[in-house]
Amino acid sequence: MNSRPDTVVILAAGQGTRMKSAAAKVLAPLCGQTMLAWVLDQALALGPKRVIVVVGHQADEVRRVVGTHAGKAQIECVVQEPQSGTGHALQVCLPALGADPGRVVVLYGDMPLLTHAALERLCASQADSGGGAALLTCEPQNPRGFGRIVRSKSGEVARIVEEKDASAEIKALREVNLGVYCFAGPDLVALLPGLTNDNVQREFYLTDVVEKLVAKSRRVLAVLLEDESQAIGVNTLAHLAEARRALQLRILERHLLAGVYIEDPHTTFIDHDVEIGVGTTIHPCSVIQAGVKIGARCEIGPFAMLRGGSVLHDGAAIGNFVEVNRSRIGAKSKAKHLAYLGDATLGERVNIGAGTIFANYDGQTKSPCAVGDGAFVGSGSILVAPVTVGQGATLGAGAVVTRNSEVPAGEVWVGVPARALRSKSNGPKP
Ligand code: UD1
Ligand code: CA
Repeated sequence: MNSRPDTVVILAAGQGTRMKSAAAKVLAPLCGQTMLAWVLDQALALGPKRVIVVVGHQADEVRRVVGTHAGKAQIECVVQEPQSGTGHALQVCLPALGADPGRVVVLYGDMPLLTHAALERLCASQADSGGGAALLTCEPQNPRGFGRIVRSKSGEVARIVEEKDASAEIKALREVNLGVYCFAGPDLVALLPGLTNDNVQREFYLTDVVEKLVAKSRRVLAVLLEDESQAIGVNTLAHLAEARRALQLRILERHLLAGVYIEDPHTTFIDHDVEIGVGTTIHPCSVIQAGVKIGARCEIGPFAMLRGGSVLHDGAAIGNFVEVNRSRIGAKSKAKHLAYLGDATLGERVNIGAGTIFANYDGQTKSPCAVGDGAFVGSGSILVAPVTVGQGATLGAGAVVTRNSEVPAGEVWVGVPARALRSKSNGPKP
């Protein structure tokens, strides 16, 4: 049976007071993209016709994240002002939802670890419920702050009670609500206007829809997740660090299984959206940011920093305390010690000596440098961009190549400022 949702609604309007930060919680960074971007990816992977994001706190910044996301054409934003609870967030979507929004999945913007498989199980369960609803649950070691699932004597889901409203007896229940639901659209739309804010937080709770569905004799099925790492809801910066770690392990495992040897996963940081070829080794304490592409049989680190926009071709080596930023490193080229390569384009088999700096920023603008195939850049050189170094050229140790210099192919340049080294015959050295 087709269980694809028609509409996904993502709640992203809250400030996240428990983060103790001025920025909206859903904008928090996680392995190279915002927490919201991870949730947008979850939503789009389900293949819905439309995605609605409820924005409020820092609405303009949140809209900007939505506006730059792949698949943005399907995503629309609805403003919730003020933010009076998760149920209220859906109430403000009512005009956008219309009378029948089809099958509706609701995701909270602070649950970035849910897997596609879990969300597919949720939708399949709703499809099996005979017109009812489904929600994801878990039995975590520590139910910190989650709503508790209350079941009837016959074991059916009866209602959800928020921790702040719960008696000691209800707090002792182990099954919690992960805040992910799949509803039949017409039921959801019909029940939302009837929510009340008769609770400790004086908020309109989306969770109260569950009891109302049951009162209408609809079944609400719970899909229990075994994997606790999916249940990390980010309410504090400590939770954010936990979520980052869990996402990081998933990313590292994907590369390990694809034939990338990551020597020490505990000290290796690799963002999402990084490509690494088979047979490449990543030594400890290396940081690889989103958008980096690394070929096969490369060697990275230890203590290397590869920043966005960098491309390393097959067999390149970037060693300890080397930073590569928006640069292209040709096949078998090496920068093995203590160097900064910014806005650089290196050909093949280039050697960059220890301590070399590509001075790409003059305080106002950034300029590029290009180094041709087989060139040798001696230790401690500084290339004040823009500079070009021709194929097979050599810079002597400590050379400072000034702005707009063009070192011809095969020449040897030395000194400060660097100039062609003359041999006795007064011609350039071979
Ligand atoms: C919510 C659930 C709780 C569940 C938990 C799982 C309710 C009432 N409670 O609690 O049962 O165990 O999530 O993670 O739903 N938001 C808005 N507008 C608002 C309020 C919140 O868009 O007016 C957004 C927030 O930005 C956030 C999400 O909804 O992304 C969840 O809000 P939060 O306040 O974190 O809910 P919890 O207290 O965690
Ligand atoms: Ca939460």
